[in-house]
Amino acid sequence: MVQIKNKIVKAARAFRGLMTFGNLGYKLNELPSIKGKMYLNKFGQLSIGRGFKVVALPWATQVTVEKGAVLSIGDDVFINAGCGIAATKEIHIGNHVRIGPRTSILDSDYHQLDADVPLDRLHRPIIIEDNVWIGTRCTILPGVTIGKNSVIAAGSIVNKDIPPNVVAGGVPAKIIREINAPEGWIRI
Ligand SMILES: CC(C)(COP(=O)(O)OP(=O)(O)OC[C@H]1O[C@@H](n2cnc3c(N)ncnc32)[C@H](O)[C@@H]1OP(=O)(O)O)[C@@H](O)C(=O)NCCC(=O)NCCS
Repeated sequence: MVQIKNKIVKAARAFRGLMTFGNLGYKLNELPSIKGKMYLNKFGQLSIGRGFKVVALPWATQVTVEKGAVLSIGDDVFINAGCGIAATKEIHIGNHVRIGPRTSILDSDYHQLDADVPLDRLHRPIIIEDNVWIGTRCTILPGVTIGKNSVIAAGSIVNKDIPPNVVAGGVPAKIIREINAPEGWIRI
């Protein structure tokens, strides 16, 4: 009896990521393709476009939308393994965005730096425009906009806006060069 119970508990744990994805109340335009485990903690508004693909192997990916927050994900978005996306206010991810493994996108500092930091300063919206590619192990900090077609190099920390059509990288991320991105081009 105990053995059967343990097996059920184990199986339930293994599928927890997928089960939590089944929360009610979000807008899903098409069934996503999810390999591995994606944990979804959804208390706010979530919309996901067509062709959403997640490869959460060998590391799980976690997406959190706090109460009152908005996370919108456009069409044809790909998220690689071990990523963390946490919306406490507003995160918009455009169409055809690629997000490399172990990248974090957080629209809140979560903790006050100084005692006089107003609470609303902790949460600042993030906008990632269409056709952006974010490399592996990047951190996108609160209040940042990354312009259309731009590339964020591996290991970068983005704490200021990045214009469209550039490669930016480093800690903190700086513009490295412009890229050739004809109108309507979609990165593979
Ligand atoms: C940015 C990248 C795409 C290379 O672009 P590139 O235009 O060919 O860049 P180069 O290699 O010619 O380097 C240009 C400059 O950027 C710097 N640079 C390149 N990658 C960098 C990085 N990750 N962080 C900081 N600086 C970087 C180089 O040191 C070089 O600087 P220098 O001119 O002072 O020597 C590549 O380095 C990268 O980060 N790829 C991401 C791969 C990835 O994460 N894939 C995940 C799968 S989704």
